Amino acid sequence: MSDQVLVADDGAVRLIRMNRLEKKNALTQPMYEAMTRALGEAADNDAIRCIMLAGAPGAFCAGADIGEFLESAQSGGLRPKTVEFLHALARNQKPLVAAVGGLAVGIGTTMLLHCDYVVAAATATLATPFSRLGLIPEAGSSLLAPKRMGHARAFALLVMGRPLSAEAAREAGLVNEIVDAALVDQVARKAAQEIAALPPGAIAVSRALIRGELDDVVKRIDTETMLFRERLQSDEARAAFAAFLSRKK
Ligand code: COA
Repeated sequence: MSDQVLVADDGAVRLIRMNRLEKKNALTQPMYEAMTRALGEAADNDAIRCIMLAGAPGAFCAGADIGEFLESAQSGGLRPKTVEFLHALARNQKPLVAAVGGLAVGIGTTMLLHCDYVVAAATATLATPFSRLGLIPEAGSSLLAPKRMGHARAFALLVMGRPLSAEAAREAGLVNEIVDAALVDQVARKAAQEIAALPPGAIAVSRALIRGELDDVVKRIDTETMLFRERLQSDEARAAFAAFLSRKK
């Protein structure tokens, strides 16, 4: 696999790092595939007790690759590796810690709803500009976000596309800790090690109880995926993708 996703185990902590910095870690199908594989291998390895998701200083993840959105719009809206990743994320049983070193857009934000402990840089911004792109919320966020932050804040984030500062994200219950950008990885790793040092059986049961019914989340992901696929092929979405890809900076 390409080096656009780096996977490294340090004791009981598996690090999955998005590493396509020149595109602000926008996710491609091979990247989703690599992340799904990394989650699957962790699931099968009892030595791994916690997983840390990270990006880079300044950019956690700029969302799905918009060039690929346009391609898949033209070929029927199928994004199979994205769907596999979302299922793997929702069904993952190991604690997930995220190190958000900077901007988190689209799935960069919605994947945080599947994480158990989120450390963000003070300068990080979370945003889901789905509507502006003619799209709808994904990754189970239409179910998980209102539960987490209430309808009012979920609507402003997911539907109006209003960004959240790190502080607002913490107030909304999406972020645990805000630290200096240079310390994000270190603090997240410490949290991951703290979780990994606890009895894994107790952690697994407690986590499952807190997260609630997984099938509901997977079902919502599938409903969103079907609607997202339709939206991808809409004139609104195609025009928004083309505008992004041809913008002058
Ligand atoms: N898909 C494809 N390419 C993307 C991308 C995405 N989601 N996000 C960023 N990029 C690319 C840019 O096109 C640019 O490529 P180039 O250097 O070849 O022109 C490069 O990454 C750097 O991005 P740039 O826009 O110059 O950085 P910035 O700091 O000014 O802005 C963002 C960063 C994330 C705010 C801006 O790139 C953006 O709005 N991206 C789209 C995010 C998005 O809508 N994601 C989908 C959500 S569903």
